[in-house]
Amino acid sequence: MAQENIGIPHHIGIIMDGNGRWAKKRFLPRIAGHKRGVETIKQITKHASKLGVKIITLYAFSTENWGRPEEEVNFLMRLPKEFFNAFLPELIENNCRVECIGDISKLPEETQNILQQAVQQSLHCTGLILNFAINYGGQQEILEAVRSIAQDVKSGQLAVDAIEIEQIEQRLTTARYGELANPDLIIRTSGEQRLSNFLLWQSAYSELYFTDVLWPDFSTKDFEQALLAFSKRQRRFGKV
Ligand code: FPP
Repeated sequence: MAQENIGIPHHIGIIMDGNGRWAKKRFLPRIAGHKRGVETIKQITKHASKLGVKIITLYAFSTENWGRPEEEVNFLMRLPKEFFNAFLPELIENNCRVECIGDISKLPEETQNILQQAVQQSLHCTGLILNFAINYGGQQEILEAVRSIAQDVKSGQLAVDAIEIEQIEQRLTTARYGELANPDLIIRTSGEQRLSNFLLWQSAYSELYFTDVLWPDFSTKDFEQALLAFSKRQRRFGKV
């Protein structure tokens, strides 16, 4: 499928869910599910890049995930190192750029460094953007935008009457993606049907696709099925 194919969404958000259940079904510790989930990321990224998808935003760690057992949080914080050590050269070879949204300043220093290095080393890549939402929360993102607007009003730089949708959009972490900021499609695996604080503002007109497949089992075929479902949707953006 060619890049200009209108059936291919430009920006896809993915809520990678079901790692724990995948492991439980196999009598394995939850972290085994996350480890396997990382392999799925590699497969889907490569496939999406081939299909001409422009941005994939992966919900890798939510602001609520800190409430998980310490051992699991520590494991999740070590995953980026394993992932990028093994996969960054291939990502770069495939012209994929790594980016992050969310407050990574609260992550362990080593995790921050690994992420920053991946971002820096892939800066020159012009193909698919692999955007990790880490320590990300949609409500917090909107809250930060509102605070920044309030500051600008307080300092006299912005009039209350001049606050429009754009003033919020410009202050979201996805602002750098311009017209691609809002995902065309959001996929959630594992049968749960909710957004769980993911890209709340940006998902206003996203097509939502839910599948029972657990993230570690989510194959390129399952991905194509989601794309096929997307291509059959009629996007009206509130119009007739
Ligand atoms: C959901 O499964 C998955 C997560 C909360 C974490 C997924 C994150 C990764 C695979 C890390 C990737 C990050 C990088 C930078 C490589 P769950 O544990 O909620 O599953 P359950 O609902 O079945 O318990």
